[in-house]
Amino acid sequence: MILFRDPNEIKEFLVSKRRQNLSIGFVPTMGALHQGHLSLIAEAKGNCDLVVASIFVNPTQFNNSKDLETYPRSIESDILKLISAGCDVLFHPEASNMYFEGEKKLSSDDYGYFIEVLEGLKRPGHFDGVVTILTKFFKIIQPNQVYFGQKDYQQCLVAETLIKRDFPEIVLKRCRIIREKDGLAMSSRNARLNAEERRFAAKIYQILCEIKSQWTEENFLNCVLESRNLLNTSPFSLEYLEVCHVETLMPVKSYFKPVVILVAVNLGKTRLIDNLIIE
Ligand code: PAF
Repeated sequence: MILFRDPNEIKEFLVSKRRQNLSIGFVPTMGALHQGHLSLIAEAKGNCDLVVASIFVNPTQFNNSKDLETYPRSIESDILKLISAGCDVLFHPEASNMYFEGEKKLSSDDYGYFIEVLEGLKRPGHFDGVVTILTKFFKIIQPNQVYFGQKDYQQCLVAETLIKRDFPEIVLKRCRIIREKDGLAMSSRNARLNAEERRFAAKIYQILCEIKSQWTEENFLNCVLESRNLLNTSPFSLEYLEVCHVETLMPVKSYFKPVVILVAVNLGKTRLIDNLIIE
């Protein structure tokens, strides 16, 4: 695997690969890699000639400086994991090479209703930071395909809109959520849970499955209310649990399918998100 830290160097390298007609699959990450990320690398390897991963803890998408400071970082073991997964190129830039001083974020204000709710509401400015860094990455890497995990459901919608508008030549691949044996969605943040919190964390997926199994005309309202109570009882503190239209993220007020259940919950000091589609 070749490691690049300088945006101009990787850009030049990839231009030469594109000239050889090699297709490029891109997996953007913030590191602290787990099986979920590695499944994206595997998908990209199956579809593209060259797989490029990025590891960059993007400061502009954190609305909370403590969260940015304590975000898990494990570059050495990440590199080993990428090599074992067969990744060809790693882009791991310094923040000072990605942003100039005083630079303003791009705005995602006019993306639509879906950007204002849920994560958009709870983490003001977060999606502006995501759009800003993805725009930079896409210009540098110019991938044929880009891979996103569906755990960040709203981020997938944001990236799809950005690509449709500004990078129509890129194909976005949404990949399924990879879960631990007990159902917990894999996330870099899981590393912050203590043993007791980790046991409780499995309830999140159980509750999503319970809503799915009770999603009938008679039960749908009650099961959502009950689930909100369960996830707002110690040690959980609920930020949101909403059942929404799969594309607009409008809340579903009457019985409807397909829908997506989206949840964000705090467990101790760790904020976890998950989702489940009801087809
Ligand atoms: O999902 C992430 O890890 C980040 O939001 C991304 C897409 C790498 C942009 O910084």
